[in-house]
Amino acid sequence: MPNHDAASEDSAAILRMAFAFVTSQTLYVAADLGIADYLAAGPLTAPELAATLGLHPDALARLAQALAAFGILRLEAGRFGLTATGQLLRSDSPRSLRATVRFLAGPWAWRAFEQLSHSVRSGESSFEHVWGVSNFDYWRQNPEVSAIHDEAMTGLTATEIARVLEAYDFTPFHSIVDVGGGNGALLAAILRRQPTARGILMDLPHVVELAPTVLRDAGVEARCEVVPGSFFESVPSGADLYLLKHIIHDWDDDRSFTILTNCNRSMGNDSRLLIIDRVLSDQPNVAEPMGYLVDMTMLAMTPGGRERTEGQFRALLASAGLRFERSINVGGICDIVEARRS
Ligand SMILES: C[S@@+](CC[C@H](N)C(=O)[O-])C[C@H]1O[C@@H](n2cnc3c(N)ncnc32)[C@H](O)[C@@H]1O
Repeated sequence: MPNHDAASEDSAAILRMAFAFVTSQTLYVAADLGIADYLAAGPLTAPELAATLGLHPDALARLAQALAAFGILRLEAGRFGLTATGQLLRSDSPRSLRATVRFLAGPWAWRAFEQLSHSVRSGESSFEHVWGVSNFDYWRQNPEVSAIHDEAMTGLTATEIARVLEAYDFTPFHSIVDVGGGNGALLAAILRRQPTARGILMDLPHVVELAPTVLRDAGVEARCEVVPGSFFESVPSGADLYLLKHIIHDWDDDRSFTILTNCNRSMGNDSRLLIIDRVLSDQPNVAEPMGYLVDMTMLAMTPGGRERTEGQFRALLASAGLRFERSINVGGICDIVEARRS
């Protein structure tokens, strides 16, 4: 006798996956239109919201109902309001993911994923296949997209910071370099927590432009130097701790080797290096798909980037003269791999 319940659960699982692109674009449109910002002051009817945003009333009502079915909006007495999840799409939420949604599902990514089969056939970045340049060159050439990328990373970092600060004891370190640290959100949070520590934020020149504001808002600008530059050339020397958050997963083994070798050259014998990326399990687990969603994103979007297993991190670190010390499970989309010079 066929097991109909199991079979229909399997069908539903496949359909949910196949429809995920609709979920993604529905969420993207809501984030891009700034719907949560318009509902921040209180619930509105669909016609009120459509009139405020200049949208088609019936189409907007259908979008709002779908968002309610996803748990982003709540429909009460004919008005749509934000749920606690929906609040995270507000631009002014302290842990806003609005830019993260816009960045992950925006046209640059969407068109790249349309050509995912190119990556699977060739192992090459479908982003580069579609846009003709690498993702990082594209952000540099398109300042408005670069701003969304940087804000997206700040949003992701905001979701990760508390977990990272809880999972790792930063108190032994007095000088900390954040390599490819974006606009400085992680370093600012660590320095705030440790009033005697000093920091150096390093990233590409067009990215660190915004850092002074982030560091000033956190009250740590006097203890943090901003160094524009490329980690393929060199990394500031002599610090106790080097951070690489969501850097190594952007690159293939050869370019990761160069980044890690440059870190090694700048480290002292007692310095520590933290790679903050997801550590994939050797045995993929249906309960933990996030690492694999990020891995497919790296495959499509980056020039050779990937998520790695502990074994792959050990081998990569060893090739650059670094020793894997331990990996700490943080949850979400990151773990911490601690290393030192071998
Ligand atoms: C995925 S983001 C991570 C940013 C930040 N560490 C975080 O977790 O929010 C990758 C970062 O690498 C930076 N990057 C890319 N190429 C670089 C290079 N050659 N030298 C320094 N930074 C670079 C990007 O500008 C970007 O800020």
